Formats: sequence, C-alpha cells, structure tokens
Amino acid sequence: MIKAPRGARDLLPPDTALWNFVEATVRDVFRLYNFHEIRTPIFEETQLFARGVGEETDIVSKEMYTWEDRGRAESDKGQSLTLRPENTAGVVRAYIEHKLGTRGLNKLFYIGPQFRRERPQKGRYRQFYQIGAEVIGPAASGSESPARDAELLEMLGTLLDRLGITGWTLELNSVGCSDCRPDFNEALRKALEPVVDTMCSDCQRRAVNNPLRVFDCKVPADQPIIEKLPRMSQFLDEKCRANFAAVREILDAIEIPYTLNDRLVRGLDYYMRTAFEFTHGALGAQNAILGGGRYDGLSEALGGPHAPGIGFAIGEDRLVMSLPQTAASALRKPDAYIAPLGAGMNGPAARLARELRRQEIVTELGDETFRLKKSFEIASKAASLYVLIVGENEVKSNTFALKNIETGEQVMVPRSELAAKIKNK
Ligand code: HAM
Repeated sequence: MIKAPRGARDLLPPDTALWNFVEATVRDVFRLYNFHEIRTPIFEETQLFARGVGEETDIVSKEMYTWEDRGRAESDKGQSLTLRPENTAGVVRAYIEHKLGTRGLNKLFYIGPQFRRERPQKGRYRQFYQIGAEVIGPAASGSESPARDAELLEMLGTLLDRLGITGWTLELNSVGCSDCRPDFNEALRKALEPVVDTMCSDCQRRAVNNPLRVFDCKVPADQPIIEKLPRMSQFLDEKCRANFAAVREILDAIEIPYTLNDRLVRGLDYYMRTAFEFTHGALGAQNAILGGGRYDGLSEALGGPHAPGIGFAIGEDRLVMSLPQTAASALRKPDAYIAPLGAGMNGPAARLARELRRQEIVTELGDETFRLKKSFEIASKAASLYVLIVGENEVKSNTFALKNIETGEQVMVPRSELAAKIKNK
C-alpha cells in the first residue's frame, strides 16, 4: 500500500471544516486591519533562502527540500530550486521584483503549505501550513515605526481571541540591529572560546560562523553553557533600546500582556530589533503557535532597496490543535436529508433538493432504491436535522412529510414553506 510520505498528511473531513473555520476567521481579521492577500510560488531559487534565511540556520543547513532542475532550456539547466521552508523571503522577493515599494506601505498576508525536513512528531510535520502576514515598505511609509510592531501584536491577540484560543503567552525580545549586533557577536565568540570544544559539533561550527545561532541548540548537555552566555539585551544600542521601549509602551497602553525573554533569538537570520513568539501550554514540546519579528535589512540582503518590515507566521496545524472543543460547532451538518420513496422519485427529489439548496439549506440526497428505514439510518449518521420524504402522494399534493430526527416530530409542510420551516429549526 502506498502511504503519504513521512511527515506529510491528509487533512480529512470533518477536520477540514475546522481548518476552513480558522481560515475564514483570519481572513475576516486581516480585512479589518486592511491586509491583502499575496500568493507566491511554492518553490523558489535556493539562493533566496540561503541569502534570506541564512546559511547557518537549521532550516537552510539541514531541512530544505532542494533539487537541481532538469529543464531542457539552457536557462533552466542546473538551476537549484527549493520547496519554500517559509514565506517571508518569497514575499520580500516579490516586493523587490514588482517594486511594491512604490505603493507605499504594503500589508500582505498569505495562507499556504511550507516544507521542512524535520523529525516528525506531534505538532511538527514536513509539510505544514502557515498563516502569515508582512508589513513592508520604504522607511517614509512608516514601516519602521514601533506603532507597526504593536499593531501587529495586537492583531494577533484579536485573532486568537476570535478563535476562542485562551491561555497563550507572548514572549518578546529585541535582537538588536546591524550596528549593535557585531559587538554582541564578538562578546559571544569570546565567551564561547574556552568552552566550545565541549559543545556539540553544530555549536562548534556556529561559534565560528554565526555565534548567535548557538541559542538555537537543543542538545541538553550544551544548555548550562548557553545559559551563562551574554545576552543581546546587554548590548542594545541607544536607538534599539528606545525602539524596544516604544513598542512596549504601546503594548502596555492597549493592555496586551507579554513576557520578556532575552534568550529568544528565533531560528532565522533576518531578524532585527523586535522578535516574538506566542506559545500555548496545550501543545506539548512544540509549543510555539506562531513566531515573527522585524527584518529591516532583508530587502537589501536580497539586492533590493531599503525596506523595513515586520511580520509573523502562525503554524496552522498547531493553531487547529489549540482550538477549544466548542470550535466543533463550526462543523456544519446537513439541515435536511431527502428520502425519495419508491421508483420514479429520484427526479422529484432532485428538483426539491435543487430548490432547497438555492435557499441556503444544506441538503443531502438519498436514492429511490433505499427503504425508508435505511434512509433514516443514513440521515442520522450524517447528523441531519430533518428527513424530508418524497413519495408519490407528496409529489401529487405538493406537501411533504418533514421529520425532525431529534424530537421525532413529523409534520406535513407545503412545498413553498419548506425552506422557512427548516431554517426556523
Ligand atoms: P518560524 O518560527 O520558523 O518563522 O515558523 C513560524 C511558525 O510555523 C512556528 O511558530 C510554528 O508554529 C510553525 N512551524 C514551523 N515549523 C513547523 C513544522 N515543521 N511543523 C508544524 N509547524 C511548524 C517563520 O517561518 C517566519 N517566516 C515568520 C515570520 C514572518 N517572521 C517575519 N515574518
């Protein structure tokens, strides 16, 4: 038997209704905050992620699905392509390619699959789904303002509230900028020098190439060493300090609760200044429901103009797992099951189904070969509210037997009143 590849999975009904509920809710929220949808390709040139996300990150160094294109055209040959492991680099590439900066501030969102070759476990998949947003534009459009950071975080609070998700924690940090980060990196290198030989091979490499990435290490034996390393908060320059204070001031003013976490550096190289994660207790080891931050230098790193930006991506798989039980009410059940009774009744039943569906009644249609008992069984398995019987007498009188499955009550209803009666429940 051929199964779905490891770490990839089928999303089946009824769960897909929860996914649709989540997506419809976030689209509503994005609309309120004036975000517009962007769709970028699912694969990109490998260079985009190497330069954008960073060679030393786990994502680029270990987790990407990369292949060499076999196209016949000279221009395709040997081109290295990669399934997107995240969507920020793609959005910024599109921003540069289509000169979106000429529109001023861009507020973009996306919903779609991402791919990382990670070890699959609960809440961690190789094909997973992200709901993300990016605010990016020339500095003159206000893209650099701490007001944008706070607005984005407030929107996330609203979004989780609307989904009925409580019990989340917003962890907040500033990871500095290209002016103050070099001093921090130097201090990290110095602190690592005497101990790095005892650390894992990844950390030994990181200590030389990109010491900040040492904070991504999950090896238990390395943690006591990492615990003692200097923190970015000690190295923030005046501007970054003021910027971080301004973000927190707005969050305090709008009463968005947060926890400062100066170990939070996020696993991607493009972050500058504000970095954040929302965690949720119910998720277990993979407890980050979403993550994001500012990436003011990313556009330039990809060969574009200066374009400060900030964004986030929610792990949709994890978001769905955090939904409260009550979200199951999003699962719409059939309102009516139509039971054609006897030969020749499929036609009249289909006509009635067509009429009801046009009036927004969710209708399931049986078959004239089914006996009434079987129709009732199917209807109750599908959790339909009503069974509507279409037999010869009913068709002749244009009045139909409508049975409420839960109460057992059965009434005769004229055709023209059926939809209203069903809607009234
Ligand atoms: P990230 O932290 O790598 O950030 O991913 C964001 C979220 O995607 C995570 O918090 C998690 O919920 C989910 N996620 C990541 N990997 C997996 C996986 N293997 N299985 C299931 N869920 C996963 C980014 O991707 C950045 N592009 C976010 C961003 C946007 N920063 C600025 N703008």
